[in-house]
Amino acid sequence: RRTAVEALRRLTVDVPDWPEAGVTFKDVTPVLADHAAFSAVITALAAAGRDDHGTVVVDKVVGMEARGFILAAPVALALGVGFVPIRKAGKLPRETHAVAYSLEYGEATLEVHRDAIAPGERVLLVDDVLATGGTVAATRELVEACGGTAVGVAVLMELGFLDPRSVTGDLPVESLLTL
Ligand code: PRP
Ligand code: MG
Repeated sequence: RRTAVEALRRLTVDVPDWPEAGVTFKDVTPVLADHAAFSAVITALAAAGRDDHGTVVVDKVVGMEARGFILAAPVALALGVGFVPIRKAGKLPRETHAVAYSLEYGEATLEVHRDAIAPGERVLLVDDVLATGGTVAATRELVEACGGTAVGVAVLMELGFLDPRSVTGDLPVESLLTL
Protein backbone atom coordinates (compact mmCIF):
# COMPACT_ATOMS: atom_id res chain seq x y z
CA ARG A 1 0.00 0.00 0.00
CA ARG A 2 2.82 2.41 0.84
CA THR A 3 4.42 1.81 -2.57
CA ALA A 4 1.08 2.52 -4.22
CA VAL A 5 0.55 5.75 -2.30
CA GLU A 6 4.10 6.92 -3.08
CA ALA A 7 3.63 6.16 -6.77
CA LEU A 8 0.34 8.07 -6.82
CA ARG A 9 1.92 11.11 -5.17
CA ARG A 10 4.91 11.01 -7.53
CA LEU A 11 3.14 10.38 -10.84
CA THR A 12 -0.29 12.08 -10.66
CA VAL A 13 -0.31 15.36 -12.58
CA ASP A 14 -2.48 18.28 -11.47
CA VAL A 15 -4.08 20.07 -14.41
CA PRO A 16 -5.47 23.45 -13.31
CA ASP A 17 -8.74 24.79 -14.78
CA TRP A 18 -9.65 21.58 -16.64
CA PRO A 19 -12.20 20.69 -17.86
CA GLU A 20 -13.43 24.07 -16.68
CA ALA A 21 -12.19 27.09 -14.73
CA GLY A 22 -11.77 26.45 -11.02
CA VAL A 23 -11.54 22.65 -11.32
CA THR A 24 -8.15 21.01 -10.92
CA PHE A 25 -8.08 17.73 -12.85
CA LYS A 26 -6.09 14.85 -11.34
CA ASP A 27 -4.47 13.11 -14.28
CA VAL A 28 -3.51 9.58 -13.25
CA THR A 29 -2.58 8.36 -16.74
CA PRO A 30 1.17 8.50 -15.86
CA VAL A 31 0.44 6.05 -13.00
CA LEU A 32 -1.16 3.63 -15.47
CA ALA A 33 1.74 3.97 -17.90
CA ASP A 34 4.24 2.80 -15.25
CA HIS A 35 3.96 -0.96 -14.75
CA ALA A 36 5.30 -1.01 -11.19
CA ALA A 37 3.00 1.85 -10.15
CA PHE A 38 -0.05 0.39 -11.90
CA SER A 39 0.58 -3.01 -10.37
CA ALA A 40 1.01 -1.51 -6.88
CA VAL A 41 -2.23 0.48 -7.05
CA ILE A 42 -4.20 -2.53 -8.29
CA THR A 43 -2.89 -4.66 -5.41
CA ALA A 44 -3.73 -1.88 -2.95
CA LEU A 45 -7.26 -1.39 -4.31
CA ALA A 46 -7.87 -5.15 -4.32
CA ALA A 47 -7.13 -5.26 -0.57
CA ALA A 48 -10.56 -3.67 -0.08
CA GLY A 49 -12.07 -6.95 -1.31
CA ARG A 50 -10.27 -9.08 1.29
CA ASP A 51 -10.67 -9.55 5.03
CA ASP A 52 -7.82 -9.31 7.57
CA HIS A 53 -6.74 -12.88 6.77
CA GLY A 54 -6.54 -12.14 3.04
CA THR A 55 -9.69 -14.09 2.21
CA VAL A 56 -11.68 -12.65 -0.69
CA VAL A 57 -15.04 -11.44 0.64
CA VAL A 58 -16.68 -10.12 -2.53
CA ASP A 59 -18.46 -11.88 -5.40
CA LYS A 60 -18.19 -9.15 -8.02
CA VAL A 61 -16.21 -6.00 -8.73
CA VAL A 62 -18.01 -3.18 -10.54
CA GLY A 63 -16.27 -0.37 -12.40
CA MET A 64 -17.85 2.89 -13.50
CA GLU A 65 -17.39 3.99 -17.10
CA ALA A 66 -14.91 5.13 -18.19
CA ARG A 67 -11.97 5.55 -15.86
CA GLY A 68 -13.31 3.03 -13.36
CA PHE A 69 -13.04 0.29 -15.99
CA ILE A 70 -9.27 0.66 -16.17
CA LEU A 71 -8.91 -0.11 -12.46
CA ALA A 72 -11.86 -2.35 -11.68
CA ALA A 73 -11.16 -5.02 -14.31
CA PRO A 74 -7.63 -5.80 -13.06
CA VAL A 75 -8.89 -5.65 -9.45
CA ALA A 76 -11.49 -8.30 -10.32
CA LEU A 77 -8.79 -10.49 -11.86
CA ALA A 78 -6.56 -9.99 -8.82
CA LEU A 79 -9.39 -11.11 -6.52
CA GLY A 80 -10.47 -14.00 -8.76
CA VAL A 81 -14.03 -12.72 -9.18
CA GLY A 82 -16.11 -11.38 -12.06
CA PHE A 83 -16.14 -7.83 -13.36
CA VAL A 84 -19.33 -5.88 -14.08
CA PRO A 85 -19.36 -2.65 -16.11
CA ILE A 86 -21.53 0.25 -14.95
CA ARG A 87 -22.14 2.16 -18.17
CA LYS A 88 -23.41 5.56 -19.20
CA ALA A 89 -26.91 5.65 -20.68
CA GLY A 90 -27.71 3.85 -23.89
CA LYS A 91 -24.64 1.60 -24.12
CA LEU A 92 -25.84 -1.69 -22.67
CA PRO A 93 -27.83 -3.83 -25.10
CA ARG A 94 -30.07 -5.82 -22.76
CA GLU A 95 -32.48 -4.98 -19.92
CA THR A 96 -30.97 -2.52 -17.48
CA HIS A 97 -31.56 -0.70 -14.25
CA ALA A 98 -30.84 3.04 -14.63
CA VAL A 99 -30.10 5.82 -12.14
CA ALA A 100 -29.71 9.52 -12.96
CA TYR A 101 -27.19 11.52 -10.94
CA SER A 102 -25.25 14.77 -10.97
CA LEU A 103 -21.48 14.92 -10.78
CA GLU A 104 -18.78 17.50 -10.14
CA TYR A 105 -19.31 18.93 -13.60
CA GLY A 106 -22.48 17.92 -15.45
CA GLU A 107 -25.21 15.31 -15.23
CA ALA A 108 -25.51 11.74 -16.41
CA THR A 109 -27.35 8.44 -16.14
CA LEU A 110 -25.66 5.17 -15.24
CA GLU A 111 -26.94 1.72 -16.12
CA VAL A 112 -26.24 -1.90 -15.30
CA HIS A 113 -27.52 -5.09 -16.89
CA ARG A 114 -30.25 -6.44 -14.63
CA ASP A 115 -28.75 -9.93 -14.57
CA ALA A 116 -25.12 -8.82 -14.10
CA ILE A 117 -25.32 -9.09 -10.31
CA ALA A 118 -27.25 -11.92 -8.69
CA PRO A 119 -29.44 -11.32 -5.62
CA GLY A 120 -27.34 -11.64 -2.48
CA GLU A 121 -23.99 -11.02 -4.14
CA ARG A 122 -21.46 -8.87 -2.35
CA VAL A 123 -20.04 -6.17 -4.57
CA LEU A 124 -16.93 -3.98 -4.43
CA LEU A 125 -17.08 -0.64 -6.29
CA VAL A 126 -13.86 0.60 -7.89
CA ASP A 127 -13.23 4.01 -9.45
CA ASP A 128 -10.35 6.43 -9.89
CA VAL A 129 -11.59 9.49 -8.02
CA LEU A 130 -14.24 10.06 -5.37
CA ALA A 131 -15.30 13.71 -5.76
CA THR A 132 -18.87 14.64 -4.80
CA GLY A 133 -19.78 10.98 -4.29
CA GLY A 134 -22.60 11.12 -6.84
CA THR A 135 -21.16 8.40 -9.07
CA VAL A 136 -20.65 6.05 -6.15
CA ALA A 137 -24.12 6.70 -4.71
CA ALA A 138 -25.75 6.04 -8.11
CA THR A 139 -23.70 2.86 -8.56
CA ARG A 140 -24.70 1.62 -5.14
CA GLU A 141 -28.35 2.13 -6.09
CA LEU A 142 -27.81 0.08 -9.24
CA VAL A 143 -26.16 -2.76 -7.29
CA GLU A 144 -29.06 -2.75 -4.85
CA ALA A 145 -31.61 -2.65 -7.68
CA CYS A 146 -30.12 -5.98 -8.82
CA GLY A 147 -30.51 -7.35 -5.29
CA GLY A 148 -26.80 -7.18 -4.50
CA THR A 149 -25.06 -5.52 -1.57
CA ALA A 150 -22.39 -2.86 -2.02
CA VAL A 151 -19.80 -3.77 0.63
CA GLY A 152 -17.34 -0.97 -0.07
CA VAL A 153 -15.72 1.38 -2.53
CA ALA A 154 -12.03 1.56 -3.36
CA VAL A 155 -10.58 4.61 -5.13
CA LEU A 156 -7.17 6.03 -5.87
CA MET A 157 -8.12 9.47 -4.63
CA GLU A 158 -10.75 11.12 -2.53
CA LEU A 159 -11.34 14.87 -2.79
CA GLY A 160 -12.04 15.39 0.89
CA PHE A 161 -12.81 19.09 0.41
CA LEU A 162 -15.94 18.13 -1.56
CA ASP A 163 -17.14 16.07 1.43
CA PRO A 164 -18.06 12.92 -0.55
CA ARG A 165 -18.66 10.90 2.61
CA SER A 166 -21.77 12.94 3.35
CA VAL A 167 -23.11 11.38 0.12
CA THR A 168 -21.62 7.87 0.35
CA GLY A 169 -23.00 7.56 3.89
CA ASP A 170 -22.35 4.23 5.62
CA LEU A 171 -20.59 2.62 2.65
CA PRO A 172 -16.99 1.84 3.69
CA VAL A 173 -14.53 3.91 1.62
CA GLU A 174 -10.91 2.92 0.98
CA SER A 175 -8.96 5.81 -0.61
CA LEU A 176 -5.26 5.45 -1.25
CA LEU A 177 -4.91 9.22 -1.11
CA THR A 178 -7.14 11.91 0.43
CA LEU A 179 -6.77 15.44 -0.87
C1 PRP B 1 -15.16 11.19 -12.89
C2 PRP B 1 -14.34 10.18 -12.11
C3 PRP B 1 -15.36 9.55 -11.19
C4 PRP B 1 -16.34 10.67 -10.95
C5 PRP B 1 -16.19 11.25 -9.57
O1 PRP B 1 -15.84 10.49 -13.92
O2 PRP B 1 -13.76 9.22 -12.99
O3 PRP B 1 -16.03 8.47 -11.82
O4 PRP B 1 -16.07 11.69 -11.93
O5 PRP B 1 -17.06 12.30 -9.38
P1 PRP B 1 -18.25 12.30 -8.34
O6 PRP B 1 -17.74 11.65 -7.07
O7 PRP B 1 -18.53 13.74 -8.17
O8 PRP B 1 -19.39 11.56 -8.93
P2 PRP B 1 -16.58 11.19 -15.12
O9 PRP B 1 -18.04 10.94 -14.98
O10 PRP B 1 -16.11 12.61 -15.22
O11 PRP B 1 -16.11 10.48 -16.44
P3 PRP B 1 -15.12 9.35 -16.94
O12 PRP B 1 -14.79 8.38 -15.85
O13 PRP B 1 -15.91 8.70 -18.02
O14 PRP B 1 -13.90 10.05 -17.43
MG1 MG C 1 -15.51 8.29 -13.91
